[in-house]
Formats: sequence, structure tokens, C-alpha cells
Amino acid sequence: MNIDAHVGTAGGDFIATGVSKHYGGVPALTNVSIRLEPGKVHALIGENGAGKSTLGKIIAGVIAPDSGILTFRGELLVLRTPRDAIAAGIVTIAQELTVVPSLTVAENIFLGSETATASVVHRAAMRQRYDELAALAGFDLHPDTVVGALSTAEKQKVEVMRALSRKASIIIMDEPSASLSTSEVGVLHSIIRHLAASGVAIVLISHFLNEVLDLADTVTTLRDGSLIATAPAQECTERGLIEGMLGRSHTAAYPEKVLAPTDAPVVLDVQHLSAPGVQDCSLQVRAGEIVGIAGLVGSGRSEFVRAIFRDAPLSAGRVVLDGTELKKRSPSVSIREGVAFIPESRKEMGLLMGRSIRENTALSRLPWLSRWSWISRKRELAAVTEQVAKVGVKAASLTQSARMLSGGNQQKILFARTLMCTPKVLICDEPTRGVDVGSKRAIYDLLVAKAQEGMGIVVVSSELEEILGLAHRVVVMRHGQITASLDGDNVNEQAILVAAFADAPSA
Ligand SMILES: Nc1ncnc2c1ncn2[C@@H]1O[C@H](COP(=O)(O)OP(=O)(O)OP(=O)(O)O)[C@@H](O)[C@H]1O
Ligand SMILES: [Mg+2]
Repeated sequence: MNIDAHVGTAGGDFIATGVSKHYGGVPALTNVSIRLEPGKVHALIGENGAGKSTLGKIIAGVIAPDSGILTFRGELLVLRTPRDAIAAGIVTIAQELTVVPSLTVAENIFLGSETATASVVHRAAMRQRYDELAALAGFDLHPDTVVGALSTAEKQKVEVMRALSRKASIIIMDEPSASLSTSEVGVLHSIIRHLAASGVAIVLISHFLNEVLDLADTVTTLRDGSLIATAPAQECTERGLIEGMLGRSHTAAYPEKVLAPTDAPVVLDVQHLSAPGVQDCSLQVRAGEIVGIAGLVGSGRSEFVRAIFRDAPLSAGRVVLDGTELKKRSPSVSIREGVAFIPESRKEMGLLMGRSIRENTALSRLPWLSRWSWISRKRELAAVTEQVAKVGVKAASLTQSARMLSGGNQQKILFARTLMCTPKVLICDEPTRGVDVGSKRAIYDLLVAKAQEGMGIVVVSSELEEILGLAHRVVVMRHGQITASLDGDNVNEQAILVAAFADAPSA
């Protein structure tokens, strides 16, 4: 069969034609065609559940399409496993990171390649290859660090280096910048440009439309598994892309700020807290306030909020909730006392992937939802159904396991779970990571509504725009210390950046 006759001249291109994929009768992708050219960045955009990762996985041989054909350099390509794809020069950086926590950085990068064998000669070769890669990527990870000890952003760097090491001709990046800080995103962007300039075809899946417009040559928009448009990036605008994704025009990105009354009581009072990675940090949050915590990745933001939640050891300091000191140290005590926490990494800390949406949402069920009585089960179901709808989860049914959800929908489940109870204080670490523009707004609306009900809210975010759009007050961290506390007109990009790069004020 002459494939070219069907799809035009292929050259060095990768072409997928008429690709469809169903999951148990539910279409994830319907008759989608895409062409990837060497040296070009091809962005894939769409709402959560639109089918972006599914298409990426088909190109990478991770899943087989139900129908459709793939060709590469004019030849029919049959990918039975990711190994086939790697052999063909197609590698992927998945949305849910796939590094092995018990292995070192270098071992993860060279996993499955010959360089990883244990002989002394190979070890030396591995080290040399590692140094070359690290120089190319501009990353400063130590090759012998055990990956389990790294932050999410660092693990992502390991994935990028692994893709580089495989000398790929096509690299699929599924939300590569979702967990990186501003400066790290800059590095990633130069890597992407560098790879494209050296002839690699890049598939860039991203919810950051400015990133898409900045980097991509071509943009393909998916909606509900169908291809809406493929267009040169130069002809696209952010507004047009959003309309394509949502099928309607988009309202403002952020809800109006409603400041808490100045005499609102302090609900969370953190006094001189020290913990691993955190030094003498104090924070007060009043009922109805949304406080943003900004800073670079590694500045101690996550460590700080985890220590408040008592998920990490405290070496000094007090956490006072609504006037009462939280003495007992455990997350379950914190939840009972009224502190809720949405962690940074849904896979490691949040979701039970094998359990259903319903079970995952009901985990922190209210006291009145006692487990065994039939009535309560019914109530629980009603509450779960309501919350899941509120956060805009797209799923076939509540019995679907979390693993089967798209990345953004998993994040929404964490949110729905937290809203099942009414905490006094809600702490969220990167609340909209991987969430599409439409649903981001739904999450912001919920946060604002909760604040207006009198909840004190703490938001850690690497997206400066999100901090600026949401927070009434901003605390900036650097090297485990608070370098600035900004409010009113001082909440602006420049002030935050200055503090994020500044040294702590001398006491
Ligand atoms: N293993 C699976 N079993 C069942 N359904 C699945 C599975 N994987 C994906 N789906 C469904 O296929 C659809 C497309 O999912 P996909 O992960 O491709 O979305 P996405 O565009 O990458 O979204 P996001 O922006 O949230 O990452 C979703 O409705 C999802 O629930
Ligand atoms: Mg995805």
C-alpha cells in the first residue's frame, strides 16, 4: 500500500491519519490527523480530557489506536510498545512522571540503555555522558542523588535529560513546564528551541497559551477528542485558541478580589516556625483572606506549608488555629482541627490511583457521613456527586478509577475531596497544576467563594499570574526564609520577583 498517496508527500515527517481511540465505549480521540515536521514545535492544546495525552501516547507507542495509521519518513509505522517507538527515535516525557525513586539520577537517565551496565568502564562512560547531557540541558543535578529525594521539578529535569540521552528525532512533552519555576521554565524553553533547531520534531502539550504562542510553529486544538483546528502559531491569538478549546468565548481569567473585613479574626497564626528547609517563618491568615506564597522552586514554600499542616517535622515554632495551639503532630489531627491541605504532587501524596473517583473524593468525609449505614452512603454519594460537578470533573462515572482520568481531572478530584469538609484553613500547593483555562477559573471561583464564607486560604503557586490574580496578600520566600510580606499596591510582579531573588533581611 502506498501510504503517501493517502497523506501527501511525507519527507521526514511523522504523520498520523484518522486516529481514533475508545475506552470502554467512551471515545477519547475521534478521527484525528496530525503531521509532525523535523525541526518544528507542534503544540497540542485543549481542555482537560480533550485527548491530548491520548494522542501523545499513541504517537509514542504507549497505547495503540483502535483505528488510523501512523507513518514516519514515508513508511508505515507499527508501534507495539514504547520500545518500538524509542527504536524509531520517538521518546516521551509523560505528564505523570515515570522516574524510579529508588535509583539515582544517572541510573534513571540511562535506564534500559547500555550505558547503565554496572562495569567500571561503563560507569566512567556513564559519568561522561551524564556530564555532557547536564551541560547541554544546563541542569545542575548530582548524578548520584537518589531520585526519591528530589522535588517534582527536579524529577522533571531527570525526565528531560533521559529524553535527550536517547537522541530522539521526535520528543513528546506532556505539560513539561507544569511544575517548574519561572527561571526553570526559561531553561526548558531554551532546551526546546535548541532541540528544534537541531532538527528534532517536538510535540508540546501545554495549558500555558503564552508558552504555546511563544514556542510553537504549529498549534493543534482538540476538543472532546476531535480535532478543531491546526494552524500556524503566527496566525493564532490567545483569545482565538481559548475559544477553539472551549467552544465558547472565555470570561475573565480571575474573579474579582473581595478583601476580608479589616477586623476579621486571625484563623491561622504561625509563629516562628522552623522545620527542615524552613527557618523562622511566621504567617498570619485572617478569616476570608487569600494569602499567596511565592518564591522560586526550592525556596521552601512547600516545606513551609507541609510543616504547618504537620506533614513534616517541626524543629521550632507554634501553629495556632482559631486561638488554640495545634499541639499533636499529625495530618489527621490537623484535618480534624480544621486545616485542609491539597498537596503538590497528586500521585505521591494525594490520590489513590487504583480507587474510584467516589472513594477518592469521599476520603475526608464529614463526621455525619458515617460509613456503614445505607442512608449515609446515599448522602455521601449525593455530596460526592455535587462536589465533583462543582469542580468540573469530566468522567464517564464516579466508579471510574482515578488512574483513568486525565491529569487535570485528577487534580480536580483532590479539590472536590477537600471541599467535602469545611475547614477553617485551606492550604493548597499549586492548586491548578495541569488544569485547563476554563476549569482554572472554576477553581478560582471556588477559592474566592470559600474565602467569603470565612475560610482562611493559603495558596502556594509558581505561576506569578495566579498569585497576582488571587492573593490579597503575598508572602515571598527564599532559602527557607520569608523575604517579603506584600499587601495592597505592593502586590505586583516586580516586588515579588525582587523578593524572590533577594537575600533575607538581616534581623
Ligand atoms: N486508561 C484510561 N481508561 C479510561 N479512560 C481513559 C483512560 N485514559 C484516558 N481516558 C479518558 O480519555 C479522555 C482523554 O484523556 P486525556 O488524558 O487524553 O486528556 P488530556 O487532554 O490529556 O487532558 P489533561 O489536560 O487533563 O491532561 C478522558 O476523558 C479520559 O478520562
Ligand atoms: Mg493530559
